[in-house]
Amino acid sequence: MEIIIQASAQAATEIASRTIAHVLRRKPHAVLGLATGSTPVQLYKLLIDMNLDWRQVSSFNLDEYVGLPKAHPQSYHSFMWANLFKHINIDPQNVHIPDGNAPDMASHCLAYEQKIRQAGGIDLQVLGIGTDGHIGFNEPSSSLGSRTRIKTLTRQTRQDNARFFGNEDQVPSHVITMGIGTIMDARQHVLLAFGPHKARAVAQTVEGPITAMVPASILQMHPDTRVYLDPEAAEQLQRSDYYRWVFEHKPLWQRV
Ligand code: PGA
Repeated sequence: MEIIIQASAQAATEIASRTIAHVLRRKPHAVLGLATGSTPVQLYKLLIDMNLDWRQVSSFNLDEYVGLPKAHPQSYHSFMWANLFKHINIDPQNVHIPDGNAPDMASHCLAYEQKIRQAGGIDLQVLGIGTDGHIGFNEPSSSLGSRTRIKTLTRQTRQDNARFFGNEDQVPSHVITMGIGTIMDARQHVLLAFGPHKARAVAQTVEGPITAMVPASILQMHPDTRVYLDPEAAEQLQRSDYYRWVFEHKPLWQRV
């Protein structure tokens, strides 16, 4: 893992946006895995402002609430169109978001996995992290080899997401999420985490043991994961001085 600690969330997001832009310029038909939540909003704004060409890009979102109408303002479908897709020239046919109202969930999840494979696999996956260490909506105890399926949210996640819905009872209890195995198949990961409420999950992910109780910790097994942090999210890391030194002294040929 490469740990990139910047002076602010904005500075970290700018570096992450350049990494993504680099992939899109190098490979116009890139396949991106996308995330929702508060964390990537600024990233999407920066990408929009870069005026990249998205015509051939395909996207696969990590997750969606089960039972929430697509047009609900808090559906991840609505989120993605409002925060990214309506501002770029992506072909709507290349946009994939799990359908939380699919009549047959099991076959929908299987088909989602198939579509990712048919697209050639995910080149770069954007990730946030839950305060409980989840990636996608793979809550603690999720199988580290899991594929796209239905999951039940933890109380913690429903409390964390209550801010979007007014109160916790309004937060759907079930979701469709790419599995941890699905996420691990992506060729590259860009994980963003900002704020003191993420510090514990970040420290466990980066420096703790690999365990299904901290699903993001499996990223230690991935050959190309970059973790972008502000100082608050980095504050429980034991080796932050080392990570800062590494980043500041990267040889030019490593700076992509
Ligand atoms: P957040 O969510 O960006 O809204 O903090 C992150 C996540 O739950 O993965």
